[in-house]
Amino acid sequence: MDFISNCTADAISAAAQALINGHLVAFPTETVYGLGADATNEKSVARIFSVKGRPIDHPLIVHISSINKLENWATDIPEYAIKLAEKFWPGPMTLILPRKKIAKDFITGGQNSVGLRVPAQSTALALLNRFEALGGYGVAAPSANRFGALSPTTAIAVAEELEDYCSPKDLILDDGPCLVGIESTIIDCTSDSPGILRPGAITQESIQNLTGAHFDVQFKSELIRTSGMLKAHYSPRAKVRLNESPNMGDGFIALSNIPTPSGVIRLGEIETTEQFAQKIYELLRLGDAKGLETISVILPTQGDLAEALADRMIKASAGKSK
Ligand code: TXA
Ligand code: MG
Repeated sequence: MDFISNCTADAISAAAQALINGHLVAFPTETVYGLGADATNEKSVARIFSVKGRPIDHPLIVHISSINKLENWATDIPEYAIKLAEKFWPGPMTLILPRKKIAKDFITGGQNSVGLRVPAQSTALALLNRFEALGGYGVAAPSANRFGALSPTTAIAVAEELEDYCSPKDLILDDGPCLVGIESTIIDCTSDSPGILRPGAITQESIQNLTGAHFDVQFKSELIRTSGMLKAHYSPRAKVRLNESPNMGDGFIALSNIPTPSGVIRLGEIETTEQFAQKIYELLRLGDAKGLETISVILPTQGDLAEALADRMIKASAGKSK
């Protein structure tokens, strides 16, 4: 896997060409790093699944350069979805819409819908624009981690996760740490009103305010297959203890206004909920790098990202005995 740390226009052109040629390109977005492939190339997309170790019936998000490309991939787009796209794209939001033929079963996991997103990150947008200029339609990209593991928010974390599984001609574009730090809000737009499948930086309140739509607060996890909805997901190697007092020797992640309990190893300085989201995956990775057995996390309760953080950390702490 080739590591590109200077994302010049030439480097981005070469990366777009690599995608066209069927290679994988890991790239930054504002949420987390994605592992990209040409979304119309079945063989390349199959490699995403093998590199990640992800079950093949889990659908992928297709990344496009702008709202103008939406109709290449989706049909029967409800008015509220147009409003959402106009307001929040480019941004940390994925819309699930009825698919057009170009979205094959190998992208959608056999479902009749397709996930679409325009990321708000300059290197990602430059890559998508260049890829489309070369004749590409969209870049399928799940988070660039092994299945079930923490999403990477730095290029180094991508390399640590995936370099053993990638090929020499695959690339990683390094453009620094991700600014949001947790994955996009996923909104189901296949019925009369929107439904949130995965909380993120675009909140339920802002969706409701914009669309005026009444929508289900209940996640529709039983109807639609989303890998982020598996119980144990987003997990470090260490056990995660959530909102409990830590034991001696535990790693400790909390806002800096919470004093450090004696005998714990404090990981990072975090002032705000936004910084908490930005840093959480890197801090959990740091805990793993230190060989910690347990990491105790005290979640922030205020701020737009509090719900999404709770969602991820509940999953990170699931399935492992404390
Ligand atoms: O922020 C993000 O969304 C990042 C960056 C790279 O864009 N991507 C990401 O991809 O988190 P991934 O594959 O790790 O998670 C995407 C989720 C999965 O749980 C997948 O099952 C769900 O989106 N998904 C994709 N297409 C879907 C569809 N048609 N219906 C329901 N869920 C879908
Ligand atoms: Mg993921």
